[in-house]
Parts: sequence; C-alpha cells; structure tokens
Amino acid sequence: MKKLFNPEANDSLQKLYGGETTNILNLSNVKYQQFVDYVDVAYSNNWLPQKVDMTPDRKQYENVLSIEEREAFDNIISFLIFLDSIQTNNLPNIADYITLPEIVYFLARQTWDEALHSRSYGHILQNIMDKPTANKIVYKWKENPILFKRNKVITEWYEESRGNHSSVNFLKVLIANYLLEGLYFYNGFQFFHNLASRGLMISSDTQIRYIQRDENVHCVAFKDMIQIFREENPSVFEENKDVIYSMFEDAVELEIEFSLDVIGDKILGMNSKSIIDYTHYLANKRLKDIGLEKKFENIKSNPYAHLEKIAAVDDESSNRSNQFEVTSITYKSPEILDGWDEL
Ligand SMILES: [Fe+2]
Ligand SMILES: [Fe+2]
Repeated sequence: MKKLFNPEANDSLQKLYGGETTNILNLSNVKYQQFVDYVDVAYSNNWLPQKVDMTPDRKQYENVLSIEEREAFDNIISFLIFLDSIQTNNLPNIADYITLPEIVYFLARQTWDEALHSRSYGHILQNIMDKPTANKIVYKWKENPILFKRNKVITEWYEESRGNHSSVNFLKVLIANYLLEGLYFYNGFQFFHNLASRGLMISSDTQIRYIQRDENVHCVAFKDMIQIFREENPSVFEENKDVIYSMFEDAVELEIEFSLDVIGDKILGMNSKSIIDYTHYLANKRLKDIGLEKKFENIKSNPYAHLEKIAAVDDESSNRSNQFEVTSITYKSPEILDGWDEL
C-alpha cells in the first residue's frame, strides 16, 4: 500500500504501479497528459439528470410498453444501478494502488461521474413509477438469480484486489474495470436506444446517452492504464494473458446469459443473434484495443450500427434533439457561478 504522504519519494520515479510518489498532485508536470485532458473532457460533458422531463416516459411505461419490454427495462436498470454503485464504491480502492498523480486525479472525477449516474437512475425511477415499484427494481437481483450471479462475479473480482496489492491483482482489477466500462453496460444501452428508435422511453434514453458518453471516456482511460501497465511490467502481462482471456470469456458468457434472459427474442428490434453477435463484436474490439488477439467469433460489423445515431450526444444544434424535442441538459462551466438559479 502506498503511503499517504511520502516525503522521501522521488517524484521523477513515478510509475502506474509500484513507483515512487510523494502523493502530491503536481498536475503541471505529469507523465501522461491524457489523463488530465480526460478530466477536461469529462468537465465539458457535464450534465444534469434532473433537467430531463420524464413525464412522457411515465405514460409510456404504464400504458405503452409491452410486459416484456417493461420487464427488460426493470432488469436492465437494476443491473446498471448495481454497476454504477459498485464503481463509486470501488474506484477509490483502485486509486490506492496507483502512484501516478494524474491518474488518481482522473479516478476522482470518474468516481463523481459514476455517482451522478446513480442520480440519473434515481431520477428516472422516481418520476416514472411509485416508490415501492422503484425499490423493487433496485433490488431486482434478490429475485433474479442470473442478475445476482453476475453481480456477485463482478464483486468477487473487485474484492480480490482489495486484499493483496500484488501486481497480478492490480492487472486483474484493471481488466475487471475495463470489462465493466467497455462490455457490461452495452447490451443494456442498446436496449434503450432501440426503444428510442421506436419512439419509446425517449427521456430515459436521453439519460442513457449521457451516461454512455461518460462511460466511453472511462473505457478509454482504462485501456490506457492497461497499456501503461503492460509497458511497465511486460513479463507480468505476458504470464497472465491466459487469466485475461479467461476473464473476458467469463464476462462474455455472463453478458450473453443475462441479455438473452431479459431481452432474448422478446423485444422488437433485438434478438438472440444480435445480442450474441454484438457481445462478441464488442469483446473482440476491446481485446484488440489492448493489443490482444480476438478470441470470439469474428463479427465484421456492429449489428447495432443503425442505433449509433441514436446513441450520439450532440449539443443544442443537434438534429436528434430537434427530432425528439429533447431539451439540452448540458451546462457550460463559466455559467455555473452565476447560473444556478436558472438551473
Ligand atoms: Fe457509470
Ligand atoms: Fe464508468
């Protein structure tokens, strides 16, 4: 465990893992500028969940969604709530490993992003249903064994890293995070974009689009951390490639099992094949991005490419905003100081 303040450390010997650091956040002189830049990006992506009017979704949730769509909606939201809750709680544990101040800085911002995502789910639930129903969704894992199983696997990977701060455990928790940020959220995201493409639950999807934009930044940051770890510890990385592949296999299996259970062939616009293909496509891309071989069926193109336009977040001038009459919910930083009343 690194020291909270280490006056003896030579800050020019900083490394991602096992380096020396006084723990001073000297952000004017960093080794990896991109992490400072990612925080700037996150800051410019600021958004306010409570600014989205959920009224149209309430009517649709009650009266328009099919039973299967509502059930999928509940399960997916429940899983997303779990993911962001565990991220908010666990990211500081990852920061405990790290001896690069710019990444500690980035993780502090990421922790905030994940907490904001929880606020977003809270805003969705409290506005489209009554409290007992919302509570049931939050604890859906108590009644869905597939959901409970995957929540437990994610937690076990994270728990393991909290004990022994070995290089292997650090690599594993980086991969676990990368899978969470880059794979687990995504069939769920597509479910919302698919509903929105059919004119359903557009306010919920607006929230999801902003969340997905944040997750993209997190995913890139973890990809970078894995690459830096590999450069610093080539032999640890090489010796544990099988562990990484096996974590990917488990993650893909769990993502497919859950998505087939809650979406399967029950939702117009999605089916078992598109779920499996998309998960394989995404997992291969994530492997390739960290310099590993594709291990899953080689799906040439994204089966949900047609939903990408829906997923994109644009500013006030966006066609999509006009198309769906979505009010812009982002705010620009200079307006924060004199603009809270207006918010
Ligand atoms: Fe998140
Ligand atoms: Fe995230």
